[in-house]
Amino acid sequence: MKVLVTGANGQLGWDVIRELEARGIECKGVDREDFDLLDAPAVKEAVIAYRPDAVVHCAAYTAVDRAESEPELCAGINGDGTLNVVRAALSVDAKLVYISTDYVFSGEGAEPWTEDSPYGPKNVYGLSKAQGEIAVRSLMEHYFILRTSWVFGVHGNNFVRTMMRLGRERTEVRVVDDQIGSPTSTEDLARVICDMLPTEKYGIYHVCNKGYISWAQFADMIMKHAGLRCRVTPIPTSEYPTPAHRPKNSRMDTGKLESQFGPMPEVEDALERCMRAMMLDEMHA
Ligand SMILES: NC(=O)c1ccc[n+]([C@@H]2O[C@H](COP(=O)([O-])OP(=O)(O)OC[C@H]3O[C@@H](n4cnc5c(N)ncnc54)[C@H](OP(=O)(O)O)[C@@H]3O)[C@@H](O)[C@H]2O)c1
Repeated sequence: MKVLVTGANGQLGWDVIRELEARGIECKGVDREDFDLLDAPAVKEAVIAYRPDAVVHCAAYTAVDRAESEPELCAGINGDGTLNVVRAALSVDAKLVYISTDYVFSGEGAEPWTEDSPYGPKNVYGLSKAQGEIAVRSLMEHYFILRTSWVFGVHGNNFVRTMMRLGRERTEVRVVDDQIGSPTSTEDLARVICDMLPTEKYGIYHVCNKGYISWAQFADMIMKHAGLRCRVTPIPTSEYPTPAHRPKNSRMDTGKLESQFGPMPEVEDALERCMRAMMLDEMHA
């Protein structure tokens, strides 16, 4: 099997390449320097040149707050850009993995979202990711749409890195306590992607680490594992206004994934592994 990975320099793409290589699967990572997702002929040319059996589409416009002031660019990259990847994959008969988000839902209520829950995005980014999903679902048969949430990994900037930095600089951080979801490690997500790729168990899956927690609880966990004594003060979302609306209910039901591919590790276990790797990196830097 030959796999092409977009967004290979991003936090997830980087781990997907690492996992494919560890499994001895032939792969190629591409990023912005290879082609811009908005350039349909360039996307097609690159895919035809490599002739992959599968495309893992990790590249995306991911700046959730900036998207509110750049809605056209965000929709272009995540909607039309994904359509370009879909058409290119179809032209070589490759299957596709599209990474999506819980932000395609409204974030209302307290019940976990299932794969069949209706769309209801409340911010520009969520809408653009739903547009990407629709491009995949309406044109392809051989696809996996993986909706994930609160992603963290060794390669890239994320909440874990931010909390580790703030925890060293300050004695207190104020973190929202009324948005509930499941932080997800790129290492574990990459494993699931590689487990799915050789199968024909196509469709939509919710893929997150196990456990529903708030950002404040996650921050607490990070401070504990970093051995930092910074106090985490829980605050409501109303005290931390951001340009993009953030859903309060990011709980996702992962039952379908578990029945087909087994359970994901607990959040704390994933965090511990990631922080150990981050600290090793810092020691060698
Ligand atoms: N991060 C999260 O919390 C989260 C949560 C749920 C779902 N997701 C989804 O998971 C996937 C991976 O996210 P991530 O955190 O790994 O993202 P990331 O670290 O921001 O990486 C995205 C990659 O896409 C590339 N890219 C952006 N625009 C491009 C364009 N027009 N043409 C070509 N490449 C382009 C970026 O290149 P540049 O650096 O040059 O822009 C970057 O390498 C995305 O689909 C995202 O929507 C993420």
